[in-house]
Amino acid sequence: MQPMQEPARIRGMFAAIAGTYDTLNHVLSLNQDRGWRRFAVEMAGVRAGDTVLDVCCGTGDLALELSRKVGPGGRAVGTDFCEAMVRLGQGKADEARDPVRLGVADTLRLPFASARFRAVTVGFGIRNVADLRAGIREMARVTAPRGKVAILEFTQPANPLFRFVYYVYFLILLPILGNLVAGGRRNAYGYLPRSVLAFPDRDELARIITDCGLLDVRVHSRTFGIVTVHVGTRPGQWPPSSAAAASASRGAS
Ligand SMILES: C[S@@+](CC[C@H](N)C(=O)[O-])C[C@H]1O[C@@H](n2cnc3c(N)ncnc32)[C@H](O)[C@@H]1O
Repeated sequence: MQPMQEPARIRGMFAAIAGTYDTLNHVLSLNQDRGWRRFAVEMAGVRAGDTVLDVCCGTGDLALELSRKVGPGGRAVGTDFCEAMVRLGQGKADEARDPVRLGVADTLRLPFASARFRAVTVGFGIRNVADLRAGIREMARVTAPRGKVAILEFTQPANPLFRFVYYVYFLILLPILGNLVAGGRRNAYGYLPRSVLAFPDRDELARIITDCGLLDVRVHSRTFGIVTVHVGTRPGQWPPSSAAAASASRGAS
């Protein structure tokens, strides 16, 4: 486990910034975050009537997008191990009279039967999970055969000029602004760029997802590559046989 992702530290950090989390998300992303989450739902192929799960749901914005997409005939659920974030998210959903249900659960031990959901998503969350591979495998376990696992994460822009400008913002301005508004709590906005830089790049993440047994991994970047959605398909057999996993790995290379 990376010391940076130590679970009690992560949970405490998000509990400390829960109250300002949504506002800062919208302000610091220049309101792009809503579009990114909608894009992830689209890429996950979610349809009306589906039963879907969002893990590391935080204050529920991605789970709410899923809920809108599946409509009254479907069911959207969200889980997160930080109770303060979940409580705020459920309050928001109740106020909007949205039927999404959010609950407290660790992504490494989801309280659901295998193959329960048509799609399982995570937005800006898997980077914080102490064991990345175990988190992806657990998401895949609860996904139905041929269902999708979709991971929305920050990535590093490919264009060197844009990357330079972006890094000035992301590595210098964002931590100052974020910590100022969040009251410097646990240096959460210093942690954000550090954790993104330490996270696997697009190709590496695609390989990891494949190694976790998912097939046909697709990679979709957005906003000059600031964010990327990786989507993998769960095979019919789970856990995959070693032969299927080997052929999936060959397909990704
Ligand atoms: C950056 S927030 C993302 C919240 C939300 N998905 C969004 O799109 O804004 C990351 C969330 O991951 C949660 N988290 C980190 N590790 C977790 C784990 N092992 N199990 C459940 N939640 C976890 C944190 O509590 C936090 O709410």
